Amino acid sequence: MADEIAWERLYEEATRVRERAHVPYSRFPVGAAVLYADGSVVAGCNVENATYGLTVCAERNALAAGVAQGRKQPVAVAVVANPEAPVPPCGMCRQVMAEFAGPNLPVRSRSPSGAEARYTLGELLPHAFTKDFL
Ligand code: THU
Repeated sequence: MADEIAWERLYEEATRVRERAHVPYSRFPVGAAVLYADGSVVAGCNVENATYGLTVCAERNALAAGVAQGRKQPVAVAVVANPEAPVPPCGMCRQVMAEFAGPNLPVRSRSPSGAEARYTLGELLPHAFTKDFL
């Protein structure tokens, strides 16, 4: 249940890692924190590149770091970015979330002022392409 998740802890981790974002081009730092079933949290920030196109979002970096730690079953994702309107994950990140979680995955996004958006992955990415189609 999304209500039982320690969202404040996730937002703290996302806010902390956001300080490390490599964003010389957009100046748009994003932090993401992913919770796993064992209670561990893995965080990631966006990392931009001079080619622009090689930029990787905070959400995907957090999920990739989780895989590197042997974690492949996220149970919640929190995102923090600067705009007053909470930032939803981009389409590419939604697809990567769908690699590791089902449609009930709760995803929340918060602005520094506390405005929050709440989604499920199924709302963000209906009709996801998954390994079931392969
Ligand atoms: N970005 C993320 O890291 N996550 C999102 O949810 C939206 C966009 C990054 C990519 C790029 O570094 C910057 O924000 C501007 O698009």
